[in-house]
Amino acid sequence: MQYGLTGLFVASLASAASLVQVTNFGANPSNIQMYIAAPANLPANPAIIVAMHPCGGSAQQYYNENKFGRQLADELGFIAIYPGTTKDFNCWDAATSASLTHNGGSDSQGIVNMVRYALDKYGADPARVFLTGSSSGAIMTNVLAGAYPDVFAAGAVFSGMPYGCLAGSPGSSPISADPACANGQKVKTGAEWATQVKAAYPGYSGKYPRMQLWHGTADFVIQYQDLVEEVKQWSTVHGVAFARNVTNSPQSGYTQMVYGDGTQVVAYSGAGVGHYVPTNEQVVLDWFGITGGGSGGSPGGPTSTTTPPRPTTSSPLPIRALLLAAQLKLAMDSKSIIWL
Ligand SMILES: *[C@@H]1O[C@H](CO)[C@@H](O)[C@H](O)[C@H]1NC(C)=O
Repeated sequence: MQYGLTGLFVASLASAASLVQVTNFGANPSNIQMYIAAPANLPANPAIIVAMHPCGGSAQQYYNENKFGRQLADELGFIAIYPGTTKDFNCWDAATSASLTHNGGSDSQGIVNMVRYALDKYGADPARVFLTGSSSGAIMTNVLAGAYPDVFAAGAVFSGMPYGCLAGSPGSSPISADPACANGQKVKTGAEWATQVKAAYPGYSGKYPRMQLWHGTADFVIQYQDLVEEVKQWSTVHGVAFARNVTNSPQSGYTQMVYGDGTQVVAYSGAGVGHYVPTNEQVVLDWFGITGGGSGGSPGGPTSTTTPPRPTTSSPLPIRALLLAAQLKLAMDSKSIIWL
């Protein structure tokens, strides 16, 4: 798969899908923005990936940050939607009951209406709509997975919090939110977390999205405990128990934690990794079944999830890490927010 992607990359440089804003995509109760990367040569029934930016970020920033829209959508023939918000320090609403409830309104409903617009306009496949995001975007991935399980087939969460962790908080940003969740102090049983998820959409008895959960052990913005809570939540919703660890998967220093047969819930723990967990697009696309034979990931297997780490940005990683550290320092000094 690595070889295939590299070859295709060379061939498709000239036709990369650019990021285009869409207005009038449907009801938009919280006035958020829709951007889309839709390749010109889409196959029939393409998949959709919704990719949500962190606090302080934007649709354009996240489009530049990962390769889903600016490279892989063309190579593999899918649609990437990058929603954007400018409220609450550019953080997604993961706190109000409107956002946390099926058809309740706010950001979650706006994002679902972006999906409905794209399904209709491009004849996309309603069974292959996926979610990913970092930090606030990861929290929102859990919110949408809980409130709209009928819309999304799978999610990939980079440094998030469980669905409902911020419920009732006065806001969803590091400045406006109740800090208990980010501090890892919202500790519940799997059953309690699952009950909260089920209450988002009462009466729903269908499948819930398959969840892939990433977190660094040295994350001091959203504590590692929140991965533990996410895992309790989604393994209970899916009724799967911890099965085994696979060390150094998908790369050195990461441990893959497999639940059940590994098709419904998988977590990746990055030893010594901070709040910024680089998006491993290959492992995410395998999980979504867009690559890797469509089986929904290759849990613990020595197949494509063992590919070596690939830099996810144009700048070398050490430089990028320094820049991020500087940004965070700046954010703390100025009390502005970069919550990557
Ligand atoms: C699996 O790996 C995680 C993350 O490194 C660790 O916290 C946990 O204790 C491991 N579980 C077992 C049974 O080895």
